[in-house]
Amino acid sequence: MSIKIRNINKSFGNLNILKDISLDINSGEIISIIGPSGSGKSTLLRCLIDLEEIDSGTLEVFGDPLVCNNRNPEKKERLEILKKMGMVFQSFNLFPHKTAIENVIEPLIVVDKIKKEVAIKRAMKLLTMVGLEDRINNYPSTLSGGQQQRVAIARVLARNPKILLFDEPTSALDPETVKEVLTVIKSLKNTGITMIIVSHEMQFVKQVSDRVVFMDCGTILSCDTPDKIFNSAKNERISKFLNNF
Ligand SMILES: Nc1ncnc2c1ncn2[C@@H]1O[C@H](COP(=O)(O)OP(=O)(O)OP(=O)(O)O)[C@@H](O)[C@H]1O
Ligand SMILES: [Mg+2]
Repeated sequence: MSIKIRNINKSFGNLNILKDISLDINSGEIISIIGPSGSGKSTLLRCLIDLEEIDSGTLEVFGDPLVCNNRNPEKKERLEILKKMGMVFQSFNLFPHKTAIENVIEPLIVVDKIKKEVAIKRAMKLLTMVGLEDRINNYPSTLSGGQQQRVAIARVLARNPKILLFDEPTSALDPETVKEVLTVIKSLKNTGITMIIVSHEMQFVKQVSDRVVFMDCGTILSCDTPDKIFNSAKNERISKFLNNF
């Protein structure tokens, strides 16, 4: 199992945002999270990668506790666990004053202490994989949104994550470039990387996911195969949501 989530709760002030969430995610599994705005999807991802602290519950990554009923392991151990995870954000978050390839090698050199020549080789390979071999020296401002997001994906892949989290990776893109980013994400299926994807691209979610989680008001209303979720006419809340697409 790659991630075990047990009874996690998270509040902001007196607003209870995640309510007793539990979920097991298998190694190599692709899980999509869908649901209305404000249901807690981003908060859940941010808790998984330690950008938010949970109030109670347990989070385990490949059997190692990241948070265990509020008794956190030491920082060093947590960092080892977090090294296995990478996140792609809606807003790309590239360094504007660095070129595409510099963006990819920076964390390898600074954080992972990898030699520059090795980092460059790895970055070239990944930028080629995402179709940007002819854009490696471009600055983000000279790349389209879709190209910037592909640089961001190459950057996160360069660190060999076992788990990849995506928070609406295409919602800042114009419809024409959405596809090129989704194609790159699809190509990661069957690589063994576990992926957790928050997305409103329902066709994509249907095609790529092993299971789909439907969140509503801080709870998991349903977690099932795409077939079952997308044909869940029985569940009024889910079918009402899906009718918007
Ligand atoms: N740092 C914060 N401080 C206070 N409230 C927050 C914070 N982050 C999120 N919230 C609140 O938590 C709730 C869930 O937000 P979250 O961003 O997780 O929703 P979401 O499902 O990702 O929505 P969307 O589809 O719009 O991205 C919202 O009501 C939001 O206002
Ligand atoms: Mg969100």
